[in-house]
Amino acid sequence: MQLNGLYYHLRTFGCQMNQHDSERIAGMLEALGALPVSDAEQADIVVFMTCCVREAADTRLYGQVASLKNLPAPNGRRLIAIGGCIGQRDGELLVERLPHVDVVFGTHNLASLPGLLIAALNDAEAQVEVLSDSQAATLPKATSLPIRRQQAWQAWVPIMTGCDNFCSYCIVPYVRGRETSRPFEEVLQEVEKLLAEGVVEITLLGQNVNSYGRDLYGQPRFAEMLRAVGNSGIQRLRFTTSHPKDLSEQTIAAFAETAAVMPQLHLPFQSGSDRILQAMNRNYTADHYRSLIKSVRQATAAAFSTDIIVGFPGETEADFQATCDLVSEIGFNQAFTFIYSRREGTPAAELVDDTPAEVIQERFQRLVQIVQQSAWQQSQLELDKTTSVLFEGTSKRDQSMLSGRNPQNTTVHVPLPVGRSLDDYIGRIEPVHIDLARTWYLRGELV
Ligand code: SAH
Ligand code: SF4
Ligand code: F3S
Repeated sequence: MQLNGLYYHLRTFGCQMNQHDSERIAGMLEALGALPVSDAEQADIVVFMTCCVREAADTRLYGQVASLKNLPAPNGRRLIAIGGCIGQRDGELLVERLPHVDVVFGTHNLASLPGLLIAALNDAEAQVEVLSDSQAATLPKATSLPIRRQQAWQAWVPIMTGCDNFCSYCIVPYVRGRETSRPFEEVLQEVEKLLAEGVVEITLLGQNVNSYGRDLYGQPRFAEMLRAVGNSGIQRLRFTTSHPKDLSEQTIAAFAETAAVMPQLHLPFQSGSDRILQAMNRNYTADHYRSLIKSVRQATAAAFSTDIIVGFPGETEADFQATCDLVSEIGFNQAFTFIYSRREGTPAAELVDDTPAEVIQERFQRLVQIVQQSAWQQSQLELDKTTSVLFEGTSKRDQSMLSGRNPQNTTVHVPLPVGRSLDDYIGRIEPVHIDLARTWYLRGELV
């Protein structure tokens, strides 16, 4: 085992795709004898799994890597490896800007990381390997690599990688490559394996899960996938992300009719203005979005969450107002709000962006208020109801409170019963009666 006795520290930014890739990296490094540490200071190897979807994540990485430069290493030398989406985008540039970086890898060659680290251990030269998706075709796929899951009871299962949508603001298609679906049978085999390991909640992952299978079978098979995994014996099934342009009636039916599929739909709408949606290359209208929500609500009771961008180039007060109206009208349990961030190389980066930053900031604050109000209203609907909670740990603020999620994916806190420990509950689903409803969480008692 060529990394025997070395300590590694893994720091992950960005979306669940990166979180899942990090589980594969942990699996590979541990298979070679390396051991995890929670502190970069004690680590012989530090791996950054990076995100460049917005500028903030980008600059943070450069700062964090720079700050390791003069940090003493436990055994004289510390290897620094950068992977994920910034690795894919910047390649050699990273080594030019941060000469103390030892390894750079991309999103398509996770399998190369151990070899690159070992080469770097034996050689002072930086090892850089960034491949396109087609160049990486002969490497083992990430899904075939060893894995160390962050939680025993929860698993992410990627059903596809990449994105073909090219929303005009978004860097993801450039750093994750083309949409590539995993074979249906392979996904089901992985699910069987996870069930045997005692996993109770699975989240199917893809940048646009609704188009799952299109590249492989000529037509989407996501509805079929939801039913197949949902009826496999798994207790809870979630999926992310759905794109409004591809959310079909068949998928809505499978979502509503499959008991294990949790009644929670993350459906980003980005903007409530048709003009802006068109400039974003989203390929749907605000009214189409409304009709989708209506169809889902007719089929089943579900909680909705979304992503929204404020300050896309050319957005007027009227465009912004349309976004606010849509939030109030739908009633979201959760909305992730982002200020538009110009990404070099995307079509939107070429657009004239003349709205003053203060105006965008003020709009953003207004939207946050509306989102909070909407979430608070949805939360009140849970008062006095009994819900089932999958416990994940204790509350960050209060160790005497158990914390988990209800089917709608809202956080629920419950006092830990006297004489019991966290281990009695973690990974288990229990009924809880809700007696307090706040904007972002519920509180209750075990029944
Ligand atoms: N494939 C998913 C997630 C993509 S990234 C989807 O389509 O929903 C997650 C969110 O980041 C997006 O939904 C979008 O709201 C936001 N985002 C992406 N690029 C951005 C940019 N350049 N500036 C601000 N927000 C962005
Ligand atoms: Fe980006 Fe659009 Fe693809 Fe989502 S669907 S990853 S926002 S290009
Ligand atoms: Fe970020 Fe890459 Fe995910 S850019 S959002 S980590 S696909």
